[in-house]
Amino acid sequence: MANMKEIAKIAGVSLGTVSNVLNNSMPVREPLRKRVMETVEALGYQPNQLARGLRRDKTRMIGMIIPDITNPFFPAVVRGAEDVAFANGYRLILCNTDNDHAKEIAHLKELRTYLPSGLIVIPSRFSDLTAQAESYRKAGTAMVCVDRLPREWKGDTVTANNESGAYNATMYALRQGHRHLAMIIGPRHLTNVQDRLNGFKRAMREHKLQIDPDYIQEASFDQQGGFSKTMLLLSMIPRPTAIFAANDMIAFGALLAFREARLRCPEDISLYGFDNLDLAEMTSPPLTSVSQSGYQMGTSAARILIDRVLGDDGPARHLVLETVLKVRGSVSFPSVEQVDADTHSPKRPKSR
Ligand code: RIB
Repeated sequence: MANMKEIAKIAGVSLGTVSNVLNNSMPVREPLRKRVMETVEALGYQPNQLARGLRRDKTRMIGMIIPDITNPFFPAVVRGAEDVAFANGYRLILCNTDNDHAKEIAHLKELRTYLPSGLIVIPSRFSDLTAQAESYRKAGTAMVCVDRLPREWKGDTVTANNESGAYNATMYALRQGHRHLAMIIGPRHLTNVQDRLNGFKRAMREHKLQIDPDYIQEASFDQQGGFSKTMLLLSMIPRPTAIFAANDMIAFGALLAFREARLRCPEDISLYGFDNLDLAEMTSPPLTSVSQSGYQMGTSAARILIDRVLGDDGPARHLVLETVLKVRGSVSFPSVEQVDADTHSPKRPKSR
C-alpha cells in the first residue's frame, strides 16, 4: 500500500508538499501539485482516514441515530443531514435503534470508537440519553438532538412547532363543524407527542368543548397502532365525527379501520394526520396532514453540528421549525346523521 513518503520520493517533493496537496491545507505551485497528483494516481494511493483520525483524535465522520428506519419521516431527516455533511467533507454513519433503548445505548458506545466529529440523535421511544450525552460532551464531541428530546437535555436541538401544528389542524376541523373529535397520540412520554396533544387540547378548550378521556387513545407511532385504536374509537357512542392522528402512519392505520368498519372518509368520519408524508397525497381520500419538513430538520441539525465542530462554543441553540397544514380530502363537514347522533345520544363510550 503506497504511502505519503513514497509519493514524496517519486514526485521529488517534500512530505509537507504532499500533505498540503492532499489536504488542500496550503497553496502549492502548479507544477509540483501536478507531479504529486500524477504520482498519487500512478500508485493508486488512498489516504487512511482512520489513521488520520487517530492522529487528530477525531475523524470526519458524523454519527446519526434514528428510531425507526421503516417510517418514511426519518429517512427524510437523514437525507437532509447527509446532504449538508457531504457538502462539508463529512461522512455519515447511520444507526437505526428500532426504538430499542438498549440498542440505542449500544450504538452510542460503539460510535465513540469511530472518533466521530459529532452526533445527530433522534431519541428512541424509551430513550434516556442524558447520561451518555454528558460523557460525549466531556469528550468534546458535539451532539444535536432532533425531533423529540431526552429529559433534562441541555444541548442543541432542532424540533418542529408541534403544538401550533396540532392546534391549527384541530381549529380547521372545528371550523368544519366538528364537535366530537378524538385523538390517537403516539407514545405519551415523547416530548413531540405531548406538544401535539397540548395543541389539540388548546383548540378544543377555545371552543369550550369537553374532551372525553376515552377519546384520547395512545398508540405506537405506526399503522397497526392506528388501526387498533381507531377500531376502539369507532365502537364508542357517540362515535367521534373526526380523528386526529399524531402521525401519518397512525392515520394510514385509521383509514384501514374505516374500510374494515365500512365507513366512508370523510362522508362518515373525518381524519387528519401529522408529518405530511409523500404517501398522504396517494391515500383514498388524500390525507389532510400537518407538514413538518424532516429534510429541513436534518439540514439544520447538520449545520448546527458542523458549526460546533468548527469551534462555535456559544449557548445551546434551540431551532423550532414552523409547520404548515396541508388540506386535502379527508376532512369535511360532519354529516347531518353524525350531528344528529352527536346531539341526541349519551356522551359516553360503549362499555368495551
Ligand atoms: O412519524 C414519526 C413521528 O415520530 C413523526 O411525527 C416525528 O415527529 C417523529 O417523532
